[in-house]
Amino acid sequence: MQFVSETETDSDSSSHGVLIDSTGDVVIKPCTEAEIDFYEKTLQLHRDFAAHMPTYMGQVRTKDDSNNDHHHAAVSSTPGTTLPSTALETETAIVLENLAAGFVRPNILDIKLGARLWADDAPLEKRARLDAVAASTTSGSLGFRVAGMRVWRGRPAGAVESEGRTDPEAGYQIYDRTYGRNFNTVTVKTAFDEFFLPADYACDIRARRHVVEKCVRELGELQEKLEKMECRMYSASILCVYEGDNSALDAAIREERFPGRLDSDEESSEPEVPKVATLKLIDFAHAKWTPGFGPDENLLQGVRSVHRILEDLLASSNTNGPTSDL
Ligand SMILES: Nc1ncnc2c1ncn2[C@@H]1O[C@H](COP(=O)(O)OP(=O)(O)O)[C@@H](O)[C@H]1O
Ligand SMILES: [Mg+2]
Repeated sequence: MQFVSETETDSDSSSHGVLIDSTGDVVIKPCTEAEIDFYEKTLQLHRDFAAHMPTYMGQVRTKDDSNNDHHHAAVSSTPGTTLPSTALETETAIVLENLAAGFVRPNILDIKLGARLWADDAPLEKRARLDAVAASTTSGSLGFRVAGMRVWRGRPAGAVESEGRTDPEAGYQIYDRTYGRNFNTVTVKTAFDEFFLPADYACDIRARRHVVEKCVRELGELQEKLEKMECRMYSASILCVYEGDNSALDAAIREERFPGRLDSDEESSEPEVPKVATLKLIDFAHAKWTPGFGPDENLLQGVRSVHRILEDLLASSNTNGPTSDL
């Protein structure tokens, strides 16, 4: 699986790619000490906030293998998993719950939060560069911008598998970091329409409304918590994932309504519960707890803007949304 990776020049962590382990359940992200510190402090001091972040499973050290020019991750804290042989640029990495795990066709939206995107320790040149990006995008006006997304549109008719293997990305539409830079305060809603109700892709509008309702609820809970918390997060993102496969989404919604009624496979002792959607905060390279400093209004502006847009989307899909295939 490939992620919507922000390897742009204003992606300001030391991360050069998030890796996925062979089981698909966890991701391994090269990171700074500050990010490790934020995860660990959250677990120690703000446990109820951890529910809005990917589950943190610990850190791994990457070590220099003298037989090889590259650095390899030593995944000692996650027995039974292996990494693809990709070079890492930093010496530390964190092991996190893969938020896309458990979805058949994960649709993923990364929303970068904040009008100010740099932390206090950023050099002047970086502040100016990120301020310029913010000023020309919805980061400046709404406190967020769409950093990237991928949307399942189904395998194109006539797609052929090569040598029995299918490209795992075939059938997804990828919207890169440039996509979200061209919106203004009005046009940005197009991105949310495309994400939740992709044009030219037949889907059940009631199921998609259910997804948006769930995201609005989770975002509302996150907003409420942030209004009471004292932290500063620069360049953090909301990562929103939902089930892009129509029949898997139907099954997940049925399971939510009538838990335990799914036909489970007799063979498997732990039938996987299908998922509708999940929405969490990620990317804490420039985040810290700041007791005494009040809520993070820079972050909250973006959260409130996204919340409002999702509520508007719900209201408009109620009356004049695209025709469903029901
Ligand atoms: N826990 C996670 N589960 C799934 N995908 C993730 C997770 N963490 C990061 N990603 C993916 O990797 C990308 C980059 O991660 P991020 O933490 O934003 O680092 P950076 O932007 O500093 O490179 C995200 O946009 C997202 O697509
Ligand atoms: Mg990021």
